[in-house]
Amino acid sequence: VRIPLDRASPVPLYQQITGFLREQIRTGSLAPETRLPATRELARLLGTSRVTVANAYADLESEGLLISRMGSGTYVATPPGGTDRAAAERSDGDWPLWQQRLLTSTWLPAMRELDSLLSATPGPDPISFASGMGATDLFPIVDFRKALAAVLREADSETLGYGDRAGNPALCATIAHILGAQGIPARPEEVLITSGSQQALALVARLLLHPGDRVLVESPTYPGAIDLFRSLDVHLQGIPMDEDGMRVDRLEEGMQSGRARLLYTIPTFHNPTGLCLSAGRRRQVLALAQRYNVPVVEDDFAGDLRYDGRALPALKALDPGGWVIYTGTFSKMLMPGLRVGFLVASGPIYNGLLALKRTTDIATSNLMQRALQAYITVGRYQTHLRRACRIYRARRDSLVEALKAYMPEGTRWLTPQGGLFIWVRLPGDLSATELYPLAAQEGVIFAPGSLFYPAEKDQPYLRMNFTLYPDSMLHEGVRRLAAAVARAREPGRRLPRRPLPAQV
Ligand SMILES: Cc1ncc(COP(=O)(O)O)c(C=O)c1O
Repeated sequence: VRIPLDRASPVPLYQQITGFLREQIRTGSLAPETRLPATRELARLLGTSRVTVANAYADLESEGLLISRMGSGTYVATPPGGTDRAAAERSDGDWPLWQQRLLTSTWLPAMRELDSLLSATPGPDPISFASGMGATDLFPIVDFRKALAAVLREADSETLGYGDRAGNPALCATIAHILGAQGIPARPEEVLITSGSQQALALVARLLLHPGDRVLVESPTYPGAIDLFRSLDVHLQGIPMDEDGMRVDRLEEGMQSGRARLLYTIPTFHNPTGLCLSAGRRRQVLALAQRYNVPVVEDDFAGDLRYDGRALPALKALDPGGWVIYTGTFSKMLMPGLRVGFLVASGPIYNGLLALKRTTDIATSNLMQRALQAYITVGRYQTHLRRACRIYRARRDSLVEALKAYMPEGTRWLTPQGGLFIWVRLPGDLSATELYPLAAQEGVIFAPGSLFYPAEKDQPYLRMNFTLYPDSMLHEGVRRLAAAVARAREPGRRLPRRPLPAQV
């Protein structure tokens, strides 16, 4: 217990100790049953007499905040009237002025909205289609533990230090090799390992963008990117999509304005729609980027999770040189807790990104990179991927089956060839945000479409992650969702009557 004492204060030391501990106990910072140091020990730590501490403990005991147990010590009691966590929270006006300014920040993180929706969910165990991750029970924990243990056994100075700032050279070479096999030319020196692909996006955005710049994104798109760009005070221009992905005619209009500084795109198994940009459009996107001098960030967050259909060339594979910054991650294919992602960039931008990376976190965890490298090289990655794809394919089919079986007529979706999500359009003018509380009451949650749009708030769409549950749970989840939709459509229930957008 570190108790700040002010020896110049007219308040006696024992009262300062009492006041500090009272506050800690009342606000729950010191939990009931916490054992306090013996009076002699605390007196020594604080440099006071033992009587001072004994007096403080006696006062708190008389207030019912401490209990002393013979032969055992002094413990925190459950405060009469319970702990008052609200007392620990300050109201906005209590913070220093410079902090209050932050309260009026103009951007509201969409991710935070999703988190608060998820945490506000009632009921014991809702079936959740809201997650952005793959199935945690498929994560190759046993094999990975062995790889990590082997690296720790070596524990040489190489492993225990920061390591190469651009990333573990062997891992960079492995990534270049994997990408090469997919037709994406990447030299190990063009690979920069990042703390997840989110950091890769953040580095590119910080290097290339200035407040007021315009960034083109698919509409809808990944909320983590929306948040990132908003945090940098840049304008987002959403490019609508159809079945073939981003509409290039609208992209050209966006680029023609002359103010676009970046195109951020997820061309393969797009988040949230699951769609792929067609091969023809991939070429058109690159031609437009060159015509209008706009760099392209290709976010390939789940490209390895293909269940059927033929692979399409990555934008990076079509890059004539230096136009595309490619980002990838092991979060969806292996596990997000690794926090290992990467980018591939050629030209002067690479050193700019590397320098920025060093100012941000010096380097990505060397230990994790080494473990990952040890894991991947023995071919387990490919085996794991094949298994994950087999299971996810069956789960996707199962979700589609359930949607057909339970959802009312007018519900629409396009079955994706890979990735994690199905993007479902609700029938009629039902808004997913309005549906959410009813669905939560039925014991099912999803990611409402509004989270994925740079501006529009009411959406008839929801994103459903199909990778997490076995068939029976997927079916039960959709049955509950259909029940919520039926309740939302009951005559007399107030629903938004204004027409909702009808893209994708
Ligand atoms: C499209 C997309 N890009 C990037 C990320 C970031 O993932 P990570 O930082 O874990 O690599 C996510 C995570 O959900 C995502 O959905």
